[in-house]
Amino acid sequence: MNDFFINYPLNSLGDNLTNQTLKNSDPFYFHKSLDEYNESPLNELPGLSNFFNISNLYVKDESTRFGLNAFKVLGASYAVNQILLNKPNVSVFCTATDGNHGRALAWSAEKYKKKCVVFVPKDTSDLRINTISNHGAKVEKLDLNYEDTCKYASEISTKMNWELIQDTSWDDYELVPSYIMSGYLTHFIEMEDKINLLKKPDIDIIFLQCGVGSWAASCIWYYLERYGKNKPKIILVEPAQSSGVFDSFIKGERVSPDGNLNTIMAGLNCGIPSKIAWQIIKRGCDGVVKITDNEVKYAMNVFYKPLLNDSRIISGESGAAGLAGLIKCLNNMKAEDLNKHVGLNKNSRILLFNTEGDTDKDSFLNIIKKHH
Ligand SMILES: Cc1ncc(COP(=O)(O)O)c(C=O)c1O
Repeated sequence: MNDFFINYPLNSLGDNLTNQTLKNSDPFYFHKSLDEYNESPLNELPGLSNFFNISNLYVKDESTRFGLNAFKVLGASYAVNQILLNKPNVSVFCTATDGNHGRALAWSAEKYKKKCVVFVPKDTSDLRINTISNHGAKVEKLDLNYEDTCKYASEISTKMNWELIQDTSWDDYELVPSYIMSGYLTHFIEMEDKINLLKKPDIDIIFLQCGVGSWAASCIWYYLERYGKNKPKIILVEPAQSSGVFDSFIKGERVSPDGNLNTIMAGLNCGIPSKIAWQIIKRGCDGVVKITDNEVKYAMNVFYKPLLNDSRIISGESGAAGLAGLIKCLNNMKAEDLNKHVGLNKNSRILLFNTEGDTDKDSFLNIIKKHH
């Protein structure tokens, strides 16, 4: 079974996907205006890049974002803000989530003193549920997978006249997800005085972990808008058991994943890719890698045990998936063609994102302890 897929991107967004899809600078100024705002750190890890025999390794660490341990709040907070500008009387926000997005929406709703109802799929841990309800949201666990939980949240929101803030899109549901994707742009804009320089980026390859693909698509959108065909190469990373983007590439159309959806990478354990995201991903990603739970556990430990003077990075199961993808490309013979395609070699400057910290602390400690 091949875990590596090569895509030949068009490297242009096309008319339908340019400016009207995502808003470029608004979200950054919105986030900066919040009391909790702090730019998330961009770490350089020379010890690890030396060990990997590559030129540079950067990790943007989102575990500190607004004290919520994950990047997702960038999307939810901006979407809630945009909706309330047009509809200030919304009384209840609703969503489906495998954890981080629900916590982010609950936090945002609490900020505006609005009610929030969050549906979670059957495998969601109590710890994740508590972090959502701690922000005053009503959380209900359904005996469904993520994709069906989304359908349920959408149907009940229509029936109850709640405002659905979902981080994935489908036919006739595109505006809110595009606000969410716009919100994600903040952390790419934050790097404009560091590696996203005006003329060309100071990085060659980015590894991005994928659930429904909204976040990866917003990254691709940003780099295509900024650099066109000179954008860095972009490789997406998915859990082998829940690889909606990989499977969609194989089938040539957007499909639900073939796998059994049994993975510890809760944030990436999603169903069919987002409609808008898939359009962007097809045009701008250079490859996809599937990883196993064991591979991500190893990557969490690599982040946790720094080499030389590198910083320690606390990275959860979904947070470390990008690193796991990089390690797999460096160590697996079958990655040779993909590595050639993206030019992964000793001169490469790589960017990763730690998209979450130890969002499930029990599970994190278990994974770190077992490897000690
Ligand atoms: C920690 C983490 N990383 C990455 C992602 C992937 O984002 P998306 O579902 O937009 O692909 C998620 C999604 O919830 C997440 O929680």
